[in-house]
Amino acid sequence: MQNSLWLKDLENAMAFPTLDTSVDCDVCIVGGGLSGIYTAYLLAKKGLKVVLLEAKPSFAIGTTGHSTGKLTPQHGVVFSKLIKNFSIDEVATYYQANKKAIESALQVASKDTFQKVDSYLYATTISGLQTIENELYAYKEANIAGYGTKETELPFDITGALKMEDTAQIHPPKFAAHFVNLALKEGAALYTNTRVTKVEIDEKFVLTDYDVKVSYKKLVLCTHYPIESIKGLITTKLSIDRSYLLASPTKELWKGQYLSVENASRTIRTGLVSDAPYFIYGGGSHIAGEVEETQTYYEELKEEMMSTFNLEEPSFMWSAQDPNTPDKIPYIGVISDDTPDLYIATGYRKWGLSNSLVAGEIISCSITHENHPAAKLYSPTRDQFGKNLLRGLSTIGFVTANLAEGYLTRTEAPKCTHLGCKTRWNDGDETWDCPCHGSRYDKNGNVIEGPAVYPLKLKK
Ligand code: FES
Repeated sequence: MQNSLWLKDLENAMAFPTLDTSVDCDVCIVGGGLSGIYTAYLLAKKGLKVVLLEAKPSFAIGTTGHSTGKLTPQHGVVFSKLIKNFSIDEVATYYQANKKAIESALQVASKDTFQKVDSYLYATTISGLQTIENELYAYKEANIAGYGTKETELPFDITGALKMEDTAQIHPPKFAAHFVNLALKEGAALYTNTRVTKVEIDEKFVLTDYDVKVSYKKLVLCTHYPIESIKGLITTKLSIDRSYLLASPTKELWKGQYLSVENASRTIRTGLVSDAPYFIYGGGSHIAGEVEETQTYYEELKEEMMSTFNLEEPSFMWSAQDPNTPDKIPYIGVISDDTPDLYIATGYRKWGLSNSLVAGEIISCSITHENHPAAKLYSPTRDQFGKNLLRGLSTIGFVTANLAEGYLTRTEAPKCTHLGCKTRWNDGDETWDCPCHGSRYDKNGNVIEGPAVYPLKLKK
């Protein structure tokens, strides 16, 4: 059962008209989460004619409305991993791009939609402490602000922590709503309940589910998993994870937000929602579409949260889905060299909020022919036939195996409308999930997560 704390009283707060007549524009952006909204705002501010289309009834109620709301350049244990595949300068560029994008957005964000807090990675084991020390080494090498500490607000013993000061946490849909309003003021045309079902790359238009045409000069796909993913071999490069979040009423707000570095990672923060303090706890990652009994993930987290933090039964439980790239840097920019007018923003891992802001900056700079220092690093074309070829082949193998396995073992399960894999019933969220590229459908077959754009055909 999906019941995100962030959508409390806000399900339809940012509903806009459905697009019902054909339009021309400079830039058509598909996907009204924080990436699409922020990109629309930056481009409209530069004077371009922007159209933003969202399939859901309201903006920022999909991935953005199901996130943790952490807005920080501390993206888990990542810098010690990046340093193995990228130069120190590139690792520093990743950090600086996120840090600066957050700072720029917070300068114009509505003050009641975010709080400044410190971010911590923490360990409870000796091997976890080694992970923290390796990460700290990468921080020093790449000149990343952070230091080791044992002082935290956690009510249990830790072996060590890595603190990054002066980061932020947000109320995601409210934060995004401010930029929706700014985009509108700058002249962007915004539509919800408008699903794009067809992309005509050569003729430069998209069609909506009501056959309304949007002609564009540039197209930006901010649909989480790109609805056009054959170009640039994106389907071979992304893997999809799911994870779980709970929220219970609490008495006090914390000054920090936390993430454990152990294998069974846990995320922790507090937040004020409708003037009431909540404790937010999450974890339990697995490959999307691979698990039927997802209720067990909620149950495990619930018991842990209530006993460790002395909290009452959670009043909100929800799940999140995250596309991952093989090298841990998102794909932001032109999807392939032969399609210079088609942009994507995806592969944020679990750090979509700050990377959404980076996406807005990189894509808006690229469209207006300005340099962005991180554009090359984030480019989706960076690894087409390079070191990630093996990973691409393994993804193809994974999808093929799932396709075959589905037809052998789930003969009655509905067929995904993306590329035909058999879906799997998810009992915790009451959805049909596709293991191949992560499309999800509600129990009535309606798309809630792409790349699929058409509903399931369910047997009566
Ligand atoms: Fe691609 Fe289902 S998401 S086949």
